[in-house]
Amino acid sequence: MKILAIESSCDETAAAVVEDGRRVLSSVVHTQIAEHRIYGGVVPEIASRRHIEKIDMVVQKALDDAGQTAHTIDAVAVTAGPGLIGALLVGVNFAKGLAFMAEKPLVPVHHIRGHIAANYIASPDLEPPFLCLVASGGHSLIVDVRDYTEFHVLGRSRDDAAGEAFDKAARAMGLGYPGGVALDRLARSGDDRRYPFPRPHVEGAPLDMSFSGVKTSVVNLLHNAAQKGDEVDLPSLCASFERTVCEALRTRLFAAAEQTGARVLSVAGGVSANTRLRAELIEEAARRGLRLCMPPLELTGDNAAMIGAQGYFEFCAGHLAPPSLNAVATLSV
Ligand code: KG4
Ligand code: ZN
Repeated sequence: MKILAIESSCDETAAAVVEDGRRVLSSVVHTQIAEHRIYGGVVPEIASRRHIEKIDMVVQKALDDAGQTAHTIDAVAVTAGPGLIGALLVGVNFAKGLAFMAEKPLVPVHHIRGHIAANYIASPDLEPPFLCLVASGGHSLIVDVRDYTEFHVLGRSRDDAAGEAFDKAARAMGLGYPGGVALDRLARSGDDRRYPFPRPHVEGAPLDMSFSGVKTSVVNLLHNAAQKGDEVDLPSLCASFERTVCEALRTRLFAAAEQTGARVLSVAGGVSANTRLRAELIEEAARRGLRLCMPPLELTGDNAAMIGAQGYFEFCAGHLAPPSLNAVATLSV
C-alpha cells in the first residue's frame, strides 16, 4: 500500500511516498530555516505563507520521484497536529483537496506519533511494544508505545522541551537559530565539568523532566560574566549544558525501562540527532543488554516519510478522516 504523506506543522514543507509503513519511495523536505534565522526563531505568519508557496512543488516532486501520481497512490496522510495552526492548515487543506480530487482515503497523523514511526523505517523488524524517548523542539516525552496506535505517556517535561532549551541556550551564546546543531558541534571541544549545573528533577515524579532551570543558568552565567568582563569558555559551557540535558533524558528513559521491564527502546525527534545523546544511549543500552533503535539523522528532524509510516498504521487501524478534517495546535499523543 502506497501512502502520499504531507507535513507542514512548523518550518519544513515536506512530502513523501511510503510503502507499507516501512519503505520510503521518495521524501522531499523544503526547509525555511534560513528565512526564520534572521528573526531568531520561527515566525508563524511567514511559515504559513512559505508553505502555501512551496507545497504544490514539494508534493509534485515527491510523487514524481516515486514514479506515482495522485491516482496511483492508495491514500493521503497528513499531519493534523500539534504544531503552528496556520502552518498545519496549509498541509491539511492541500491533503483534503488532493484526497477529494483523486477519491482517496484521508488519514490524519499526530506529529509526535510520526516522529516515533521514523523508527519503523530505520528498523524494519521493530514492532510494538517498546519505549520511546521523544525529544524535539516542542516536546520531551517518555512514551510507552503499546501498539502502533496505542500510546501511554510515562513522563514529560514540565516546562521547556529539550530542543527549546538547546535553542534558547544557544541563542544566549550567540550561536544563531536553531542552535541545537551548533551547540552540539561546539561542545565536542569543551570540558563538560567546567560549569556544573544542578540536575533538574521534578519532586515526586521521577520520569518527568524540567529544562528551563538549566537554560536560565546558562543565560545568567553569560549575563554575570558580561557584567564583570569575565571570559566565558563557550565550548565548555556547551559541553556542561549538554551533559546536564543528556543525563536527564538518558536517566528517564532507562528508569522507565526498569519500571516497565521493557527490553526494546527507541528515540525520536530533532534532539535525537545530538551526538552526545546518541553515544550515551548506545553505551547504556549495551551495558544493560537492551535493544536500542535510532532513526538515521535525516529522519530525526521534521519530514513526511515518518508521517507516511505512521499514516499506514493509522489507516490499518481504520483511523480515517472525514472531508471536514480540521487542524489542531495542541493534541495529546
Ligand atoms: O523534531 P524537530 O525537527 O521539530 C519539532 O517537532 O520540534 O526538532 C527540532 C529541535 C530544535 O530545537 C533543534 O535545535 C533540535 O531539534 N536539534 C538538536 C540537534 N539537531 C536538532 N538539538 C541538539 N543537538 C542536535 N544535534
Ligand atoms: Zn517535529
